[in-house]
Amino acid sequence: MSNLVRSVAPSNIALIKYWGKKDKVLKIPTFNSLSLTLNELRTETSICYSATNQFFLNGQELDFNDIQDFVSLFGCQENIRIDSYNNFPTAAGLASSASGYCALGLALNKFSNLNLGRQQLSTLIRQGSGSATRSLFGPISIWKSGNTSADSYSFLYPYSLNLKAIIMICDSHQKKVSSTKMMEMVQTNKEVYRHWLNMTQRHYWLMLDAIKNNNISLIGDIAIDNAHLMHNTVISLDSNLSYFNSKTMEVIQCVKFLRNKYKLFYTIDAGPNVVIFVDNNNFDMVESEIKELNIPYLISTLSNGGHVLD
Ligand code: PMV
Repeated sequence: MSNLVRSVAPSNIALIKYWGKKDKVLKIPTFNSLSLTLNELRTETSICYSATNQFFLNGQELDFNDIQDFVSLFGCQENIRIDSYNNFPTAAGLASSASGYCALGLALNKFSNLNLGRQQLSTLIRQGSGSATRSLFGPISIWKSGNTSADSYSFLYPYSLNLKAIIMICDSHQKKVSSTKMMEMVQTNKEVYRHWLNMTQRHYWLMLDAIKNNNISLIGDIAIDNAHLMHNTVISLDSNLSYFNSKTMEVIQCVKFLRNKYKLFYTIDAGPNVVIFVDNNNFDMVESEIKELNIPYLISTLSNGGHVLD
C-alpha cells in the first residue's frame, strides 16, 4: 500500500442524458449516455493512512459511512483519511458528485494497489455515482449501458469539439428531489418512460454522427431536444416538480435568440442551472450578450478525464 496518493478529476455534463436504471444496486443504466468533460470544475482528492477512517470535503468533516460502501469496492482494509476539495462552489447546485467520485475512485485504485485499467476502474466509479464514470475520459465521454456490471463502462469518443462552456447559476440551492429519486419516479410511468427511451436512443445515434461530422448546429439541436425530453418526463408526472425557474427560462430564451447569429446551444441537468456551449470563434460576442442577463456564471474549457497526480 502507498502512503499518500493524490488525484484530480473534472466534472462532466451530458448531452445525451442518463435517466434511469436497469439495476439500481449496481447502477446499470437503461441506455448509453454521452457527455462533455469540464476542465474548470474539478475535484482534487488525497488519501493517506490514519488512526480512524475520516472524510473531509473542503476542509469540513463528513460522515465516513456515506462513502464506506464505495471505499469497500476497492478492498481497502486499513483506516484512511480522505481529503477532497472542489475548485468550484460546492453548494452552487452544480453536480460535484461526478468529479468527486471519479477523483476518489482514481485515488483509491492507486492507494490500494489495485491498479485497474481505466475501463475496469470505470465500472467501480459508476457504483459511486453513475455519471461520475464519464469523468474518467474527455473531452467527449460515453457510458455504455451494458447488461452486466463488467459490461457497463465508460470510454473516450475520440473526436474533439471547438467549444467552451458558460455555466449559468440560475439557483445555487440544492435541488428538492435528487436525480436518483426522480429517475425512479419517472420509470414507474411506463408509457412516458418508453417514449423517453425510444427518443433518447434515436438522439444518441444521431449525436455520434453529428460529432463525427463536427456539425455544431446539429449537435446543438439534438442536445437541446434531449435535455427537454428528460425534463418533460418530470413535468408529465407533476408540473410542480419542474426543475426550471424563471432565470432558467430567461437563459433558454436568450440562447434560442442568439442561435440565429452564433454557434451555441444549451443543456440542463436535473436542476435549474443551464450549461451553454459556445463555438470558441463566437465566444467573446456571446459572453458579452449573456452578461446582460445579470445571472452569475462560470466559464470552462473542455478537458481530458481525471488522473492520478505525482
Ligand atoms: O449520476 P447521478 O446519479 O447524479 O445522475 C445524473 C443524472 C443527470 O445528471 C440528470 C444526467 C447525466 O447523464 O448526467
